[in-house]
Amino acid sequence: MEIKEFCIVVHGKEETQKIGEMLAHGLKPGDVITLEGDLGAGKTTFVSGVAKGLGIKENVLSPTFNIMKCYFEGKLTLYHIDAYRLEDQMIDIGLDEAIEGDGATFIEWPKFIAPLIPQDHLSISFHIESPDKRTLSFSYAGKKSYELWKKLKEKYYA
Ligand SMILES: Nc1ncnc2c1ncn2[C@@H]1O[C@H](COP(=O)(O)OP(=O)(O)OP(=O)(O)O)[C@@H](O)[C@H]1O
Ligand SMILES: [Mg+2]
Repeated sequence: MEIKEFCIVVHGKEETQKIGEMLAHGLKPGDVITLEGDLGAGKTTFVSGVAKGLGIKENVLSPTFNIMKCYFEGKLTLYHIDAYRLEDQMIDIGLDEAIEGDGATFIEWPKFIAPLIPQDHLSISFHIESPDKRTLSFSYAGKKSYELWKKLKEKYYA
């Protein structure tokens, strides 16, 4: 049986950002990545690492009060969504436009917009082990997300 998941244990936010940077190198337009885990688990920290990897200089902050933030200055557009405040209200946040666009879409709290998320997405789960330690689990669900997953795994173990 093919293993669809692999885990990385990190210590401190810089390590989480480094993994985000690694993932950034394999991103393609239309990629969708969901980020699950408790408050403070490190989802936004991870996306800030992705931004750095894409060459985005602007600081990535939690988009909680905007729902979606877009960063256009990198080698790929970065769409960062935090669905926490939507809490199941199915309002149109422009997700389709982001996904069909020229960038990669990162979604925190995907459970609140589950019906809107394409089947083929990379799922990252953040688990808090201790104040500084996190376990990040990566799994894919389709051809596109498999490519991204495989590239990250190869880069991490290289
Ligand atoms: N290994 C680690 N990885 C990421 N963050 C860490 C780590 N260790 C400690 N931290 C701290 O945990 C916090 C993570 O905050 P962050 O905003 O990234 O969480 P979040 O998952 O996006 O939460 P929210 O659901 O509220 O948006 C930061 O204060 C960061 O400094
Ligand atoms: Mg966050």
